[in-house]
Amino acid sequence: MPRKSEVEKLYDEYAQYYNNDDKFIPETFNTGRAAMSFADDITWHFMKKYAPKDKKAKILDAGAGDGYWTIKFIELGYRNITLSDLSEGMLEQAKKKLSKIAKKQNCEFVKSDIANMKEFNDNSFDYIFSQYDPVSLCMKPKNAIKELARIVKNDCYISVVLDTKFRRVSELIEAKQIDKVIELLKTNISYDFTFPQYNFTWEELATYFDLAGLEVVEIVGAPVFMHQIKEDILKELEENNKIREILLGIELEYCTNKTLVNFAGHLQMIGKKHS
Ligand SMILES: C[S@@+](CC[C@H](N)C(=O)[O-])C[C@H]1O[C@@H](n2cnc3c(N)ncnc32)[C@H](O)[C@@H]1O
Repeated sequence: MPRKSEVEKLYDEYAQYYNNDDKFIPETFNTGRAAMSFADDITWHFMKKYAPKDKKAKILDAGAGDGYWTIKFIELGYRNITLSDLSEGMLEQAKKKLSKIAKKQNCEFVKSDIANMKEFNDNSFDYIFSQYDPVSLCMKPKNAIKELARIVKNDCYISVVLDTKFRRVSELIEAKQIDKVIELLKTNISYDFTFPQYNFTWEELATYFDLAGLEVVEIVGAPVFMHQIKEDILKELEENNKIREILLGIELEYCTNKTLVNFAGHLQMIGKKHS
């Protein structure tokens, strides 16, 4: 059996705590968690926008973790979802969660490295999404995008979300890790935990989409403003539903503005495979 990577070991170990912010926190520095709910709402808006209309469509949640996004698609009525992840621990968590919400949801669980998805045939899926970092954690982002492009069907979409490069610069300066800022700017690599991950500008990620033959149809920053607001102030504002709705509206209006995307919390890119 091949040796587990550090990433796989960490996610196996922490799978049961994954959705508990107090226990699952980066070791190297504490990434700002403010505005995550806005990142979720924004990326979800675009995930839904490109999802197939047919609820029987074959969907892949690549690097699915504990199945958070699959559950949201099941709630929309989708019934043919495959969850893949490098970590068996995370897949076990997803199985547990899914067994509680729907017995006949017909999900498949596959241990698979996003950079080499040999378990899946070419042109297999009607839609693929990979939320929050699997593409950057695998450390072979070019291969991962190529693989996603290989297994999605023609005229179908993939959605990828990862951390942006320039947002991390200010986080690292706040953490007084100037040597890490220099490393990030030179290599695109940063460390949430003990192992490396990639951070990209939209132009850099678009190059990989291009190389994989995917047309970039949407470039989204999630969020572009809210992560810059002090956490306590944002929490207070969010308590008022009307204000939160207005703030989300502002985000949705500006999140595709390319001058803002590279400073966003997360980068979401949607690509289309052409015949
Ligand atoms: C931050 S979590 C996100 C999980 C889920 N997509 C979500 O948004 O809730 C990152 C996930 O990527 C998985 N992962 C890391 N490296 C991977 C790889 N090379 N191939 C597939 N999954 C990977 C981890 O095991 C973990 O479940």
